[in-house]
Amino acid sequence: MRVITLAGSPRFPSRSSSLLEYAREKLHALDVEVCHWHLQNFAPEDLLYARFDSPALLTLLEQLEEADGVIIATPVYKAAYSGALKTLLDLLPERALEKKVVLPVATGGSVAHMLAVDYALKPVLSALKAQEVLHGVFADDSQIRDYQHKAILAPELQQRLDSALETFWQALQRREKTPLPSLNTRIAAAASF
Ligand SMILES: Cc1cc2nc3c(=O)[nH]c(=O)nc-3n(C[C@H](O)[C@H](O)[C@H](O)COP(=O)(O)O)c2cc1C
Repeated sequence: MRVITLAGSPRFPSRSSSLLEYAREKLHALDVEVCHWHLQNFAPEDLLYARFDSPALLTLLEQLEEADGVIIATPVYKAAYSGALKTLLDLLPERALEKKVVLPVATGGSVAHMLAVDYALKPVLSALKAQEVLHGVFADDSQIRDYQHKAILAPELQQRLDSALETFWQALQRREKTPLPSLNTRIAAAASF
């Protein structure tokens, strides 16, 4: 099983990316192959000038073809997702997310914009023909205790992320059509070895 994590902040390190770091640790424990991408993998001019032959883009597209799921993270910028992320999404082919389960996550300075994922990002994910776009996770900045070195998240946020990752995992299983044990059971079993 392969999952792509895509960090949509122009900053690195970043708060929204720290949610992906947390997710990656959980998925690695489940032996899921995770390919991580962030905007810094791309030459800024390739994104700004819409270069569809960007080498990094072509590699991402190859990996996307083989991926079962995508977790996409963005900061809220001006009540929407980041413009830098949009420059990349604009370069994806129309059916780039076909047959994929997508979990969107976002961080913002204020809960006033917690619905930005729903009204701004989700329509784009649907336009890219995502098979299933899951309920997103929003974190406000105060819930991210550290992101410079290692993701340290408030317990309440961790709980919501765990629950979203469980749903993501279950959706991937449905896609595979092979029943697998729940995420927590698998992690507990892996930890006992
Ligand atoms: C240019 C800019 C615009 C922002 N606009 C908003 C906004 O409209 N609403 C909000 O809640 N937070 C806003 N913020 C705060 C960021 O969303 C927040 O700090 C986020 O966690 C940053 O994530 P990152 O570290 O992954 O880039 C803005 C930050 C910047 C730099």
